[in-house]
Amino acid sequence: MGVKRIAVIGAGVSGLGAIKCCLEEGLEPTCFEKKSDIGGLWKYEEIPKSGNLGIYKSLTCNTSKEMTAFSDYPIPDHYPNYMHHSKMMEYLRMYARHFGLMKHIQFQTNVCNIKKRPDFSSSGQWDVVVETEEMQKTYIFDGIMVCSGHYTEKYFPLQDFEGISKFQGSYLHTWEYKHPDNFVGKRVAVIGLGNSGADVAGEISRVADQVFLSTRQGAWIWNRVWDHGEPMDTTVFTRYNRAVQKICPRYIINRQMEKKLNGRFNHANYGLLPTHRILEQRTVLSDDLPNRIIIGKVKIKPNVKEFTSTSAIFEDGTKENIDVVIFATGYKLSFPFLSDDSGVLDNQYSMFKYVFPPELEKPTLAFIGILQPAGAILPTSELQSRWVVHVFKGIKKLPSRRAMIADINRKNHQIMAKGSKKILQDHRRVTFVDYMDEIASEIGVKPNLLSLLLWDTKLAKEVFCGPCTSYQYRLQGPGKWDGARAAILTQRERMLKPLRTRVVKQSHLSHLSWVKSACVVVFFFISVVVIMHITSH
Ligand SMILES: Cc1cc2nc3c(=O)[nH]c(=O)nc-3n(C[C@H](O)[C@H](O)[C@H](O)COP(=O)(O)OP(=O)(O)OC[C@H]3O[C@@H](n4cnc5c(N)ncnc54)[C@H](O)[C@@H]3O)c2cc1C
Ligand SMILES: *[C@@H]1O[C@H](CO)[C@@H](O)[C@H](O)[C@H]1NC(C)=O
Repeated sequence: MGVKRIAVIGAGVSGLGAIKCCLEEGLEPTCFEKKSDIGGLWKYEEIPKSGNLGIYKSLTCNTSKEMTAFSDYPIPDHYPNYMHHSKMMEYLRMYARHFGLMKHIQFQTNVCNIKKRPDFSSSGQWDVVVETEEMQKTYIFDGIMVCSGHYTEKYFPLQDFEGISKFQGSYLHTWEYKHPDNFVGKRVAVIGLGNSGADVAGEISRVADQVFLSTRQGAWIWNRVWDHGEPMDTTVFTRYNRAVQKICPRYIINRQMEKKLNGRFNHANYGLLPTHRILEQRTVLSDDLPNRIIIGKVKIKPNVKEFTSTSAIFEDGTKENIDVVIFATGYKLSFPFLSDDSGVLDNQYSMFKYVFPPELEKPTLAFIGILQPAGAILPTSELQSRWVVHVFKGIKKLPSRRAMIADINRKNHQIMAKGSKKILQDHRRVTFVDYMDEIASEIGVKPNLLSLLLWDTKLAKEVFCGPCTSYQYRLQGPGKWDGARAAILTQRERMLKPLRTRVVKQSHLSHLSWVKSACVVVFFFISVVVIMHITSH
């Protein structure tokens, strides 16, 4: 049999990782990208082509560079910890160049349909119909990696807002928002408090007359700059914290985390306190929001009851004159190239580990990056791709259809039991460290803490107590990278480097005191034992 040919749909973060993984494992990838450049969401366009997801000019990562990097290609040490989208694009370009990915991408080529071939049950092959401006063409592929993105369509439920048709001001979705220039001196209502809503409200409030931020549920607000000035995710997403969370009852964790966030500003006093506990739903990352609220430029409001021609009436009965409404109502997932009769997806939200639709006779279709980790997407999609190429090559088998469906149902139950509202986004929400470990175990690249502790204590300490960076999944097994150990041991230096633009003595990241170190060692042993005990069931 010849080399397997794989179609990769989309050249965003997930697509680039997928191409690289195919090459690494000796498969032959062809990537189709409808835009004329790589980067997907991260490619800023002042005037986006219709249908292209747009980001705003100021967008800056909400995940720090060490947590966001591909597992065998750290982000340059002098890059800021939270990168502007232009820096993210630079990094992606370097990655594509370094691994020779560009020659495998066909730009301005839209995948409009994928269909099982007539002999699918034996061959597992697909017909992939693509179109460019000039022509339409059908290719045959042995496998497909769908990397078309999580944020493919705006969610814009206008019909839910009474009176919006009477409203004489203008309105738009954050998808169309670019910069605050058009909002100077205006009275603006931002509907929805997610990451985009908080960002956009804060930014516009610098030039607007007044911004009202309307939220039905409220939200827990984190900030990028965490204790001692470390990037939030590098402090929060550690194996140590995860072990603590597994051992402590959930309500204690909730209480502790909420106390921590309320310590910065009291969420109730600021009108932001949600009805749900912190672990139940998505949180919002915004350094700016409380600062804008305390100076009165942003006012938090409940849900809009209705719009009149010139104002918004909120559910508490208050009425405010408004010039512009910005809907920060989020995005939804769609796969327009999947024909209804392809029988691919019984239900697009029930896939085995969020990657493989369980209903197919052959596991030759995989979805990359459509989940919602509470953490960076990039390393998660990369690890999914590493697993997928193993399955495509036949080195790794999937469980039976029944077992996969049982696993999906079990996970859905767990999510419900934890009290998550039954909204699709939360359905695909996973715990970063757990999910990474789960996929890593499939291909045998999960770091072995016990052996590390015995043979390389220094590394073990950083792997356990330090940020759970993706280099950890290149320490052993297939795809092992010789630079992984060094990348882990130097990650803190890379975090400090961009900050040290005026060098002063004694600058360092917080170190563990010896008391805490001792606790960590004791705790480490206990949790290794506990985790081994749990996983052996
Ligand atoms: C405002 C915002 C901020 C974010 N910030 C972060 C962050 O800081 N850190 C983080 O980890 N994640 C962040 N995310 C999540 C983000 O989705 C991921 O970081 C990442 O960009 C996802 O990459 P992707 O390749 O899966 O999808 P995309 O970036 O959406 O790329 C998909 C690509 O597929 C192409 N495509 C789609 N359909 C077709 C087709 N039919 N034929 C051909 N090509 C097609 C598209 O043109 C696009 O280039 C953010 C998301 C948003 C919306
Ligand atoms: C970053 O922003 C995106 C888009 O709003 C969101 O989906 C994701 O959950 C955010 N991540 C974190 C860690 O806050």
